[in-house]
Amino acid sequence: MTTRVLTGVTTTGTPHLGNYVGAIRPAIEASRKADVDAFFFLADYHALIKCDDPARIERSRIEIAATWLAAGLDPERVTFYRQSDVPEITELNWLLTCVTAKGQMNRAHAYKASTDINEAAGEDPDHGVTMGLFCYPILMAADILMFNAHKIPVGRDQIQHIEMARDVAARFNHTFGQGRELFVLPEAHIEEHVATLPGLDGRKMSKSYDNTIPLFEGGAKAIKDAIARIVTDSKLPGEPKDPDNSHLVTIYEAFASAGEVAAFRAALMAGLGWGEAKQQLVQLIEREIAPMRARYEALMANPEQIEELLQIGAQKARAIATPFLTELRHAVGLRRFNAIAKPADHAEKAKAALPLFKQYREADGRFYFKLTSHDGRVLLQSAAFDAGRDAGQWVGKLKKEGAAALNDAPVSLGDGIAHADVAAALALLAAE
Ligand code: TRP
Repeated sequence: MTTRVLTGVTTTGTPHLGNYVGAIRPAIEASRKADVDAFFFLADYHALIKCDDPARIERSRIEIAATWLAAGLDPERVTFYRQSDVPEITELNWLLTCVTAKGQMNRAHAYKASTDINEAAGEDPDHGVTMGLFCYPILMAADILMFNAHKIPVGRDQIQHIEMARDVAARFNHTFGQGRELFVLPEAHIEEHVATLPGLDGRKMSKSYDNTIPLFEGGAKAIKDAIARIVTDSKLPGEPKDPDNSHLVTIYEAFASAGEVAAFRAALMAGLGWGEAKQQLVQLIEREIAPMRARYEALMANPEQIEELLQIGAQKARAIATPFLTELRHAVGLRRFNAIAKPADHAEKAKAALPLFKQYREADGRFYFKLTSHDGRVLLQSAAFDAGRDAGQWVGKLKKEGAAALNDAPVSLGDGIAHADVAAALALLAAE
């Protein structure tokens, strides 16, 4: 089974080397796995929460798009789009807002951090807090649930948001699903083996510490200049250095093979000067980044090309979002009036008399489904599933493929039911 993995990047800044090592590179690697169906999007609605400078929003969106493409994201393979090109996401945002407890949003870390600062400063707790910031986690839940993503690779600061998305999904399923799981419950995925890259001063590389190494901005020279500013101890060339106590080595390790790391460490212990070590680090980083920089510059010189790729991505995303949203609108009661059942309407009665799939959960905590005939006889009974999603997928497959899917489906025929009865019932459903 493929896992749907979804990643969003808020488009407020310009990517630096720490973003590349900590997020971009591992995400692109993961997207190449055969069993992964990857979704990448530019969270540009989220950007509006943090930034009211249109020029910066515009610049950041294109820079981030070009960066991911230059770093090897394959838009043919993954679904790559801008959040603001998929209006279904904001519509879903509202449906979710209506089932989200305000008290839960009061406890969101990002919001709490703002009110804590205000309180410490003797201000009104909500001073400067927009409704966008307050509702941030709901929009994020909409991003995730719109595509029924299973796995969300995030940093630790985002775990609470994924938990909130799960809660909202569960509440929506419970309220409107009528036993069906409309939404998959997403899980946060923390990349344990990806180290955070230290910045020039040894603290985590971050724009707010002003200790970053640029990725593409300013070209090779900017990388070289930043590396020249990496803080080291004052040992002279010829003096042995301690590689375990140098963040320059940690940065080196993020780009080198095991053999190169061993040689570099040995050279430092043998007295390699810091100036020379920095030159080697520049070369090492350039080996990986220079070819990407060339692609980045070509893309930035050609915005129409990026636009076209993102338009194709939006189409792919909407091919999923549009029908799903129709289903969700129906589930909450926003239905076309001509779909309302009229008691005297024979066609509607006939519809009500169709065979029916039911998904449910037993006291054993496991998930099941069954197919019943119009008069309530059990035609098919499923085995137990650990995940409701799996039960749902079999139902989908049986509906779509009919009797052909019966061979490998984990189901048994009801008492006194023949294979042909089931095949006929499935055919009736398929004709619907
Ligand atoms: N909040 C995320 C961040 O700041 C960005 C984001 C928005 C996101 N929507 C998302 C991440 C959905 C994952 C899934 O990093």
